[in-house]
Amino acid sequence: MIRIFGPQKDSRAECPGQGIVPLIHKVSLYPFGLLPQLDIREVSPSDLDQIVEIEKRAFSVGPYSRAMLKRMFRMRRSFNYVAEDSGKIAGYVSAIPIDETTGDVESIAVDPAYQGRGIGGMLLDHIEAEMKKRGLKRSILEVRDMNFESIGFYRKHGYVEIEHMVTYYHEYFRGSKGAFRMEKALQ
Ligand SMILES: CC(C)(COP(=O)(O)OP(=O)(O)OC[C@H]1O[C@@H](n2cnc3c(N)ncnc32)[C@H](O)[C@@H]1OP(=O)(O)O)[C@@H](O)C(=O)NCCC(=O)NCCS
Repeated sequence: MIRIFGPQKDSRAECPGQGIVPLIHKVSLYPFGLLPQLDIREVSPSDLDQIVEIEKRAFSVGPYSRAMLKRMFRMRRSFNYVAEDSGKIAGYVSAIPIDETTGDVESIAVDPAYQGRGIGGMLLDHIEAEMKKRGLKRSILEVRDMNFESIGFYRKHGYVEIEHMVTYYHEYFRGSKGAFRMEKALQ
């Protein structure tokens, strides 16, 4: 599922939901042609360098290494997508089924230069749609308990906290190693 958004974050906030039009495989973030079109497509090996850089820029603590990303994308049942702006990767998302009914969003990140324009939401919508196509009924994810921005993002997309794990990560972020597990029913 791909969407068209208004030209600026602020104007979107003033008119929630306005201008959101489902399309297939293409989105114009700037409908008046001020920016190129954005594609959502499967990750390819040549995207890895850019994704590694996005990880470093998006995560101040504990970005996935090149080797970890490579392993994640190569996992047999994983599905992985990028949002691409004329050859430049703006963000990516990765998920994997963990049982017959549940998909786990392993990672999502948008380059800080592109954040707040709906790209993260678009990637999340897309991967949830893919989970549904595979017959999955539920999406789950883990998010650092002090990552308020992302928790807000997930709540906005219908996720709720179902579990708190006090020590989940190796490194501290804002004084905590904890995580919430969040869940959303896929309808
Ligand atoms: C979380 C993330 C993928 C969202 O991508 P995005 O393209 O910025 O998201 P969207 O534009 O679709 O949605 C923005 C929403 O995210 C939340 N959000 C994202 N960044 C935020 C920030 N710095 N401050 C407050 N809210 C923020 C808000 O709910 C915001 O909604 P609003 O625009 O109505 O205020 C992106 O911010 C990111 O890559 N963060 C760093 C990596 C990360 O923490 N990933 C999640 C790990 S579990």
